[in-house]
Amino acid sequence: MEDNQTDKPLPPLRLRSHHPDSEKEITLRIPVINGGMGVGVTGPALASAITNEGGGGVLTGVVLGYPFQKILGKLTDKKPFEANRLALEEWITTTKTKCDGGFVGVNIMVALNDFKDMAHVSAKSGVDLIIAGAGLPMALPEIVNKFPDTMIAPIISSVKAARVMVKKWMAKGRAPDAIIYESIHHSGGHQGGSIDDILTGMHQPRDVVSETRKMLDDQGLEDVPVIAAGGIWDKNDILEALSWGAQGVQMASRFLLTVEAGLEFGGIKLFKKLFMENDIPTILERSPAGLPSRAVETPFSKRFAAIDNEIIKEPHECPSVCLASCDKQKSIYCILDHLTEALKDNLEKGLFFAGSNVGKKGISKKILPVKELMDLLAHGEPAGIRAAAGAHVA
Ligand SMILES: Cc1cc2nc3c(=O)[nH]c(=O)nc-3n(C[C@H](O)[C@H](O)[C@H](O)COP(=O)(O)O)c2cc1C
Repeated sequence: MEDNQTDKPLPPLRLRSHHPDSEKEITLRIPVINGGMGVGVTGPALASAITNEGGGGVLTGVVLGYPFQKILGKLTDKKPFEANRLALEEWITTTKTKCDGGFVGVNIMVALNDFKDMAHVSAKSGVDLIIAGAGLPMALPEIVNKFPDTMIAPIISSVKAARVMVKKWMAKGRAPDAIIYESIHHSGGHQGGSIDDILTGMHQPRDVVSETRKMLDDQGLEDVPVIAAGGIWDKNDILEALSWGAQGVQMASRFLLTVEAGLEFGGIKLFKKLFMENDIPTILERSPAGLPSRAVETPFSKRFAAIDNEIIKEPHECPSVCLASCDKQKSIYCILDHLTEALKDNLEKGLFFAGSNVGKKGISKKILPVKELMDLLAHGEPAGIRAAAGAHVA
């Protein structure tokens, strides 16, 4: 995409609840939300800063109890599900306070044993948008039905999945309030497609975004925004996604390179260092969630690489019984424990989820305060910086 496109102003992102008893509408001045990054990367500091700068801040609501216990020494007398609930409630309250009641979203995974509880807690605590992925959140409308002002959005990775979600939710009398599309070729963490789909280039972003937009329009759902995620790094990438028919974007990896990311757990310095090292590639590995996942290549992730690799299971405990699909006896490792080790700067044991951009050379990488990053996303990187992007900035 041409550099001169960075002069174009970004349009705002309009969200409205499609619950029959709600008239709630929210307009985000900058059409950028952050992707939830489990297990503790997207906390109150990051989410509130993004909202305060005109975007939409999204907390992770994924198994927070364990890092609270293991790193912060909090809630240690609580059982796993209760700890998850209390930790998420605390984070939602803190975030709402920090952004003066502004937009707060929560990302939760359908694959979690306590998905229903986490969705309910989020809605009861007053979040504006629940984003649910790692499985299709068929039951979400019923779970939050008593909270008309809580908007809900499924994550999809193919047009087929988008169609299924719209059909199922419309049959329950509720259109989705947004559709989040995550590209299996670029997103960090779990992917909503098979290794084969990824290797054969299925579900390309331009196709899925434009066809999903058309599918919604054909059903009279013009006011349901498509929010594109995966591989978006700068303003030109945002404009490109909007040109395919998206109304907004969700970005994760670039937000990890902010001062505010992971602040609650000590600032995740190693995570950030790995992201800045231009010669560290990302690989697909096998997750106990039963999906391929994209992560920084480290000695640990290489052991579980999804392609051409004999997997030797790692003996482990099951501290939080988090994933419905995970059986302690059969699963290859404890994903929660390894994601928590990443928060603790442990190179040997950490699992560092990452989008494909992290392994790409020649893009501008620098740890910025959210305020500066949002300004760059809204107004574009100065030409000099774009030209010099190949130079690694530490
Ligand atoms: C460190 C990390 C953790 C993530 N954790 C989650 C998660 O818990 N739930 C989820 O739905 N997506 C998760 N994702 C995916 C992001 O929310 C996002 O959609 C995706 O990474 C976008 O691509 P990008 O990183 O290229 O911007 C994660 C991504 C990263 C990089």
